[in-house]
Amino acid sequence: MSEAEGRVVLVTGASSGIGRACAELLSERGHTVYGTSRKPPPAPTRHRMLAMDVTEDDSVQKAVDAVLQERGRVDVVVNNAGYALAGPVEDTSLEEARRQLDTNFFGVLRVCKAVLPSMRARGSGLIVNVSSLGGVVGLPFQGLYSASKFALEGLTESLRQEVAPFGVRVTLLQPGDVCTPITDNRVRARGCDSGSVYWNVFEAALRIIEKEERAGAPVELVARRVLELMEREPLAVRYTVGHVSQRLLASTKAFLPSRVFERILMSYYGLEARRPGQEA
Ligand SMILES: NC(=O)c1ccc[n+]([C@@H]2O[C@H](COP(=O)([O-])OP(=O)(O)OC[C@H]3O[C@@H](n4cnc5c(N)ncnc54)[C@H](OP(=O)(O)O)[C@@H]3O)[C@@H](O)[C@H]2O)c1
Repeated sequence: MSEAEGRVVLVTGASSGIGRACAELLSERGHTVYGTSRKPPPAPTRHRMLAMDVTEDDSVQKAVDAVLQERGRVDVVVNNAGYALAGPVEDTSLEEARRQLDTNFFGVLRVCKAVLPSMRARGSGLIVNVSSLGGVVGLPFQGLYSASKFALEGLTESLRQEVAPFGVRVTLLQPGDVCTPITDNRVRARGCDSGSVYWNVFEAALRIIEKEERAGAPVELVARRVLELMEREPLAVRYTVGHVSQRLLASTKAFLPSRVFERILMSYYGLEARRPGQEA
């Protein structure tokens, strides 16, 4: 396959949801796609699947080396593997917090470090880091998830500037809610049980979060956006994808007074700040 016909694409977290949809669409369009995941996908895929746990240095390097050995290059990486941790910040253990960051943030860093030497040497390459609107707005009871995506946003802004002189392009994709198994795969902070002071409001907020995810945009929309970004030149720092209402709401953060924006969010998720002198 010549470079003009198709590119060699590595999609992490391709056994499910957004990653799977991206891998399928890019394969259909003639690209050579390598998907990765820890567990094999439930059904056979058109694209090749490799084992990769993004929290393990060796596992990441082994999968990237396998692609380089077979194809001699990785043209595009879609850093998509991730999961959602939910729970009040106070009830989240440091171990749970570390695991969230290790996957959603350090996982991306590991993959970037594994592919960059060959991309730099060839003077080309594209890295699409899948962030979230939760990487623009800190959402209640998704504090560690938001932290992982905020961190990814900062890393990507810096990395972009460093590798541009070598011809390597990096961008962020921020989906709003997308209907995927992420809802059923959500990990809940173990410290938040019925004895927690946050329990009732957390449960109510989580019901809203899950309802919105189940009514989220179809995965195909995100896959088409990734395909479009692969053809776009020049590439901006970040792009959004998903329901217009959510994208618009996130964008108002930039110009609404911060407390007004926060009050909108809190009221949406059923939270109310205690007024001075008010009884608990
Ligand atoms: N769905 C949404 O509403 C939404 C919105 C904004 C952003 N996102 C982002 O989109 C990305 C994909 O989410 P999704 O909704 O498609 O979720 P999903 O259906 O649960 O898929 C997650 C994928 O990540 C893989 N994964 C998880 N932990 C991994 C690890 N340690 N190492 C390697 N692979 C791992 C999973 O495979 P294995 O478990 O087999 O490893 C799976 O293939 C995530 O980064 C998420 O934060 C999703």
